Formats: sequence, structure tokens, C-alpha cells
Amino acid sequence: MASRSVAASRVARRAPVVTPDVVAHPVIKWVGGKTRLLPELLARLPEKFGHYFEPFAGGAALYFRIAPRRAVLSDSNADLIALYTAIQKDVASVIRRLQHHRDAHDERHYYATRERWNENHASWSNADRAATFIYLNKTCFNGLWRVNRSGDFNVPIGRYTDPPICVPDALRAAHTVLARTELRCGDYQAAVVDAGRGDFVYFDPPYDPVTPTANFTSYSAIGFGADDQRELAETARRLVARGCQVMLSNSDTPFIRSIYKGFTIDRVKCARAINSNAAKRGDVDEVIVMGGY
Ligand SMILES: C[S@@+](CC[C@H](N)C(=O)[O-])C[C@H]1O[C@@H](n2cnc3c(N)ncnc32)[C@H](O)[C@@H]1O
Repeated sequence: MASRSVAASRVARRAPVVTPDVVAHPVIKWVGGKTRLLPELLARLPEKFGHYFEPFAGGAALYFRIAPRRAVLSDSNADLIALYTAIQKDVASVIRRLQHHRDAHDERHYYATRERWNENHASWSNADRAATFIYLNKTCFNGLWRVNRSGDFNVPIGRYTDPPICVPDALRAAHTVLARTELRCGDYQAAVVDAGRGDFVYFDPPYDPVTPTANFTSYSAIGFGADDQRELAETARRLVARGCQVMLSNSDTPFIRSIYKGFTIDRVKCARAINSNAAKRGDVDEVIVMGGY
């Protein structure tokens, strides 16, 4: 197994390969967001690739940074993909609705909006639903998008003096990238069925828990366990056998190392903010796994 620390790896020899035509960033805060890990991920991209696939999109930090010309962005969270679809198709309406939330924002508006979000939403317009998602995400406690077992968003209001509820330029930049992307909602397996030779797939699955109690798996009402991690490793192997270039990030645990034998594995440090106890947040080791390049 090729396992190396950052210092010993080939990353320092790599020239930067990403020169995006748009400066775009995530439009929401998302647990497990990769903004802090971006330099390490960018340094390990393949030198060139065809389509870009990101099947566990979340906030999609790497996708927005690369601003790929041809991409498939996917996630099992239907609200998230509906949000990206609304920004792709009608960013002006999303911005208008967000301006309303920004002007109305206070504690009463937050809780009334949260209640409305959890009600049957057949009557919502796509832009309204998307703007409401962004509003709740930017104003909730810790930017933590968490749903309970019945799928209800249940996070209290956060303590911010001036949360960035509506940033039109950032939404327009996100729109430019999303306009040239195919969006899919569903399991990661379906997202990569047509990935082929020369394409690049970046997997950022829910983390393998470092300790039995440390797992945060509530991006949706369904979790991601050890069998799912094993199945994902098999999918990565099949993609590499098909000629795809695959990169994956996860916790540095013996289990994850064991299921990616034969891949290149780099250990990197990452500051994570998923522990609800601030004192327990800090740097943890992660791995970046690469195959096919
Ligand atoms: C670690 S987060 C991704 C973080 C993201 N890369 C970022 O920068 O914000 C994992 C994502 O996987 C999604 N997810 C969980 N299980 C999934 C599955 N079986 N198929 C597809 N997506 C899944 C979750 O909804 C969540 O958005």
C-alpha cells in the first residue's frame, strides 16, 4: 500500500492545475464542508480530466473552486439538489426571496420560517424553497443543517449580529458554474454510472467515525455505516478499472486504510468543526485516497 505523510508525498512537485473562469464558493454552510481542506485537495487533482463528478456534493467546496466546464453534481439530499436546481434555473428569483428574508430577519421570523419549512411543501415555488433553505442555513445555530428521524429541520436560531443572508454576486457566480452542470438527486452509485475513461470522480462521503460516539450522520434521516463505506471502496475500484481517476477524502482510521489497499493514501491534517462541544474541536487526521492517476 502506498501510504505517505504530506511531507513525503509528490504534491510539492505538482503545479497548480486549476484556473477557473469564475470565482465561486459554496452557497451554504455544510457539515463536513471541504473549504479548509481545499489546498490539499487541489494539490492532488489529476493533471487533466474530462467530466468532473461529485456524488456527495454537500456544500460542494471543491466543485465551486474548480468551476468545471462539464460536471455531474449529485447528493441524496433532495432539498440540497432542489436548491442547486433553483440557482441554476432562476437565480434572480432566489435573490429576490432572500432579500425579503434579510429584511424580515429576527427571532420571530426565524422560527415562523422554520415551522413553514417543515410543513407540507407542495405549494412552494422552487425559488422560495431554495431561498428559505439558504436563509435558515445562514441564521441557524452553528450553520448546522440537521434533521430529525422524520426529516424535520430542528436547529435553533444562531447568535449572529449580521449574518450574510443574501450575497447576490456570490449567488450569480454559483449560477454560472451550475448552469453548465448536470444535477442529480440520489444515491452516489447512480451518480457515477456513466463516468468513463479520463473522467474525474471526487468522493466525499460521510466520515467513518473516529470514535464510536463521534459520528455525525444526520445530513439526512438515513446514515452511512461500515457496509456503505465498503461498498463505496468497491465502487471506487470498479471506476479505476474502467479508466476513471478517483479521489476520496475520509477520516484516517485503520478501517478506511484497510478498505483502500492498493490505492495511494496521503495523510493530511484538517480542522473539523463538527463536535458540538467547542472544546473538543480541533485538528484531526484525514486521508486523501487516490486511484487511477
Ligand atoms: C461530507 S458531506 C460532503 C461535504 C462537501 N464535500 C462539502 O464540501 O461541503 C457528505 C454528503 O453526502 C450525502 N450523502 C450521504 N449518503 C449518501 C448517499 N448514499 N449517496 C449520495 N449522497 C449521500 C449527504 O447528504 C452529504 O451532503
